[in-house]
Amino acid sequence: MSVYPIEANFLRNVEIKEVLRESPLIKTFLFEDKLCTKSVPGQFVMVWLPRFDEIPMSISSTYPPLASITVSMVGKATRLLHKKQVRDTVGIRGPFGNSFKPVKGKVLLISGGTGIAPLAFLAERLVEAEITFLCGAKTKNELIWLSKIKKLVSKSHGRLISSTEDGSHGHKGVVTELADEILATEKFNTIYACGKELMILKIFNYAKEYKIPLQASLERLMRCAIGVCGSCTIGKYRVCVDGPIFTSEQLCEVEKEFGKFKRDFDGRHLQI
Ligand SMILES: Cc1cc2nc3c(=O)[nH]c(=O)nc-3n(C[C@H](O)[C@H](O)[C@H](O)COP(=O)(O)OP(=O)(O)OC[C@H]3O[C@@H](n4cnc5c(N)ncnc54)[C@H](O)[C@@H]3O)c2cc1C
Ligand code: FES
Repeated sequence: MSVYPIEANFLRNVEIKEVLRESPLIKTFLFEDKLCTKSVPGQFVMVWLPRFDEIPMSISSTYPPLASITVSMVGKATRLLHKKQVRDTVGIRGPFGNSFKPVKGKVLLISGGTGIAPLAFLAERLVEAEITFLCGAKTKNELIWLSKIKKLVSKSHGRLISSTEDGSHGHKGVVTELADEILATEKFNTIYACGKELMILKIFNYAKEYKIPLQASLERLMRCAIGVCGSCTIGKYRVCVDGPIFTSEQLCEVEKEFGKFKRDFDGRHLQI
């Protein structure tokens, strides 16, 4: 279970210092917060939009004194967040959760959509690894940071391969197909993955088949983020405090729910 300083759960009002428009649907917000600048890749914050909602967002970078989140506009809260400008404030709790553990040697990073946010942050920290980065998205409007990642991975003699479901950029198809092709011919020390749960399920099956350790980030509904409310449970785990990063061994323990059921805010099991 992850341990965080008690102050992490205190709500802080932070001022937005910079807003970067990454694509028509994705923006990065930089803010100043001492605790968040100490975040490690995989950790997340709860972003409070007063009188509206509080939602989880991965930390996408730290450049002390600044940290950032990278937000895809998918619904009401993220739409409201997208309207925020420099000098506006939001509430922040966190950073929460565990983190990706860096390894050496050949590694495969697989992102779906804004799963790219924590994985690009991780790629910056994988200084002793040769990185193959597979970035997938529905369309090119959701595919961001390609030149930044290309630069990062080329330092380690690695490579970046992108795919879109509609073929508007890179390979046409889903990123798991790319992963399957590459895993059939190459060996990796570890796979890191972040994206929707059904994508993670496929990667989990490949990791088992090719006997490669996996570190995967899961997304579940989150409310308290400190292990109290139970909204984020998967089997015996609470994603907010036991995750969001899980290994293959842990995912095996929750195979009955993983990729099959999630909970809604009333605690009911819903089919994924
Ligand atoms: C640990 C974690 C890290 C995340 N990191 C990012 C990130 O870096 N960038 C990013 O764009 N998105 C991230 N998300 C997803 C993001 O939290 C949701 O897209 C957001 O909450 C949607 O809110 P909404 O009101 O705009 O959309 P809604 O229409 O309310 O919801 C759209 C979908 O978002 C999900 N969602 C809604 N509320 C929550 C909630 N409280 N907790 C979890 N999921 C929710 C549900 O799957 C829902 O179907 C992350 C989620 C988790 C759990
Ligand atoms: S969000 Fe409340 S227990 Fe995880």
